[in-house]
Amino acid sequence: MTTQVAVDIDGRRVTIPAGTTALDAADAAGVRIPTLCHHPDLRDVGSCRLCMVEVEGQAGLQAACTYPVTADLRLRTDSPRVVDARRGVLELLMGEHPDRCPECVRTGECELQALATEYGVGPAPARVSRPLQLVDLLGPAVTVDLDACIGCLRCVRTCAELQDLGILGVVGRGSSTAVSTYLGLPLAEVSCIACGQCINRCPTGALRPVDRTAELFAALADPTKHVVIQTAPAPRAA
Ligand code: FES
Repeated sequence: MTTQVAVDIDGRRVTIPAGTTALDAADAAGVRIPTLCHHPDLRDVGSCRLCMVEVEGQAGLQAACTYPVTADLRLRTDSPRVVDARRGVLELLMGEHPDRCPECVRTGECELQALATEYGVGPAPARVSRPLQLVDLLGPAVTVDLDACIGCLRCVRTCAELQDLGILGVVGRGSSTAVSTYLGLPLAEVSCIACGQCINRCPTGALRPVDRTAELFAALADPTKHVVIQTAPAPRAA
């Protein structure tokens, strides 16, 4: 039987199974902790450090998504130190992020944009806006804009953990680390099923479905082409 423990989160007491993460404990107590690399469908890796909290008795801040609670733990999720640390994480991410949110396909639905707004963080003052670089590493189904990637690896974990494919991975090291396909092969050469689940879990506009609208209109305007628009799977030949 799982041991139940009582913990205190911002003065709210909640009783939960020992080993529950601080993030889930806070959720049970009705306390919201902001996250980026966390996704409820995926195993936590604690890489973005946005969910940092103060744990009584610990000198450093802890990532709530990977910190298991124990009996009588006391957490602070909104102290000035925590808020400053979160703002620092967002400043770093926004300092690297393309300054073109209004044109991004995810504008208004981007998790990074929403958090930066919430914490009053804009693009870094001295940064130079980079031109749009759509790196079609993942075509024909998925396009990746590596400038907008925040390295949360939700796409990589989705492909491996949920779809059991493991097609996505990372290549390079340090600041040149980038999401890619297994061995950097084109998507057409690996067993991608074009499910789009990696796009669904990307917190920014870094992953996008390939937009074939222009191709369609060109084909429609071409009298030599016969275009069939299919909205349901074609019936199998008898
Ligand atoms: Fe916890 Fe990213 S959400 S470290």
